[in-house]
This record gives sequence, structure tokens and C-alpha cells, in this order.
Amino acid sequence: MMTDDYVWFEGIAFPSTGYSPELLRDVWENFVFKDEDVILLTYPKSGTNWLIETVCLIHTKGDTKWIQSVPIWERSPWVETFSGYDVIKDKEGPRLISSHLPIQLFPKSFFSSKAKVIYLIRNPKDTLVSGYFFWRTATFVKKPESLEQYFEWFMQGNVIYGSWFDHTRGWMSMREKENFLILSYEEMKRDTRSTVEKICQFLGKKLEPEELDSVLKNSSFQAMKENKMSNFSLLRGLHLTENASLLRKGISGDWKNYFTVAQAEAFDKAFQEKLGDLPPELFPWK
Ligand code: A3P
Repeated sequence: MMTDDYVWFEGIAFPSTGYSPELLRDVWENFVFKDEDVILLTYPKSGTNWLIETVCLIHTKGDTKWIQSVPIWERSPWVETFSGYDVIKDKEGPRLISSHLPIQLFPKSFFSSKAKVIYLIRNPKDTLVSGYFFWRTATFVKKPESLEQYFEWFMQGNVIYGSWFDHTRGWMSMREKENFLILSYEEMKRDTRSTVEKICQFLGKKLEPEELDSVLKNSSFQAMKENKMSNFSLLRGLHLTENASLLRKGISGDWKNYFTVAQAEAFDKAFQEKLGDLPPELFPWK
């Protein structure tokens, strides 16, 4: 079914398929995290699936069986979706769980648990461009007609999961917690090996050098593009159009190819106004 409106909950827009206000409330109030859970948290289009693939491979010590036989959204299901919630509820043992929720709607049980969060951020200008191209191929969100239009929506927070600025400010308040690791897409691109080592250390996993090599090799842009369990090709004709691709360019700084000078200036101004009081080292693309 093709719909292009949103589901609204607590003033935030969500995709029109796979979500409901009742579910979002239920997850918020009643979902129980376990201390052994690992949560992969992002604002949409920040490199979520790259992080998921990487963590899956760390879990299997570089063995590719899991990533090649199970769709990525089942390996680390979205807690706030019907399909994800269903898979997670009945799962035994340590769980890998994804979420794009803003902090104020995140399951309350998290804040008194020891569950570990990896929070991945990305230069919001690149997140914006990535979203613009991706949502145009999706059937579950309002389609922007132009980058100009999407730019306005993004700046106003009239996009799914709400304002990037609010989302980021909210989650950044957790930065001193020891069960909270912040990574950036940019550092992951620049030095993937060190970032993977950082994740291993955070999760308490020790990998042999050849296992680490396999993690790197099999989570690369090219490897993911070719893995049908990870490249979203299974969703074509269902939630995505036939030409849709999760793996678009996979680079840092692509916004420079699309933003006008005026847009870049307006963006920087908004960033300064909304997040200028936070330590600049939190935003390593700057
Ligand atoms: P682009 O559209 O800029 O190419 P998400 O998983 O949160 O939806 O993010 C999607 C973005 O992550 C896309 O960005 C995609 O290309 C990029 N990405 C996915 N896997 C990647 C990988 N292995 N290496 C680099 N970038 C990757």
C-alpha cells in the first residue's frame, strides 16, 4: 500500500507504515531493556546500517554467515516499529536493538539499566542530503519535491523523528555516562579500524587481527552494497521503489555538491543558535 503521510506522536512525525501512536506509547512506557542489551542509536541517515553491520560482524568475530543469511533489520530490530518490537520481545539472551527515537520518547526502562548504547552521529548536512535522496525512493514518508523543499522541512524539524538539532541535543546530554559511546560517521570513514577497535573495547570483545580484518572487509561500502541482506534490495517493490539504494555514495562532505552558499550559511547559523553552547569537539566534522 502506498501512503505518504506521517504518523504523529507527541509532536514528532513517524513513517506512515509500521508505526502507531499506541505502539510508540507502549514502547516508551513498557519496553524493558536488559543490562546485556546493546542499543544502536542514530538520527536517520547517519550511517545506522553501517554501524549495525559492523557490530554484527564483531559479534560473530568476522564470520559472515549471520550477515549473509538474515536481513539487517532482523539482526538488530527497531524497537519502535511493529515488526521490530515483535522480533525483540521473544528474543533470548543478549540482544542487538536499533532505534532512531529521540531521548524524550525512548523506553523509560533504559535510564535505570546498564544496557550499552552506541550513538552514531553524522554531519547533519550530509544526513540531510542522504535523507533527501533516500526518502524520494521510499513509500512510507512524504516525498520532497526538491532539495530546497526538503531543506526547509529539515530545518523546521518537519521530518520523521523530528528535528536533528533537538535529537542531537537530547542524546548528547548522556555523553558522560559510561554505558554511552558516541561515534561519528566521519571518524568511522577516516579511520575505520580504530573505530572498530573502540567499539570492541566498549563492548568488551577481543578480536584476533584476522577477525578484525574480516570485520573491516565485510562491512565496507562495497561489501554491503553487494550483500542483499544489507543493501535493502529485499524491500524494493515493498517499502522502496525499484531503483532504491541504501548504499548511495558513502562519503563525507557530499553536501558541498548540493547546498547553495546561502543554504550553507543558514545551516551554520541555525547550528550555532541551537547547539553552539555544546563543546565543539562533539562535532568532529567542524
Ligand atoms: P549516503 O546517502 O550519503 O551515501 P542509514 O543507514 O542511517 O540510513 O544511513 C545511510 C547512509 O550511510 C548512506 O549515506 C549510505 O551510503 C551510508 N553507508 C551505509 N553503509 C556504509 C558503509 N559501509 N560505508 C560508508 N557509508 C555507508
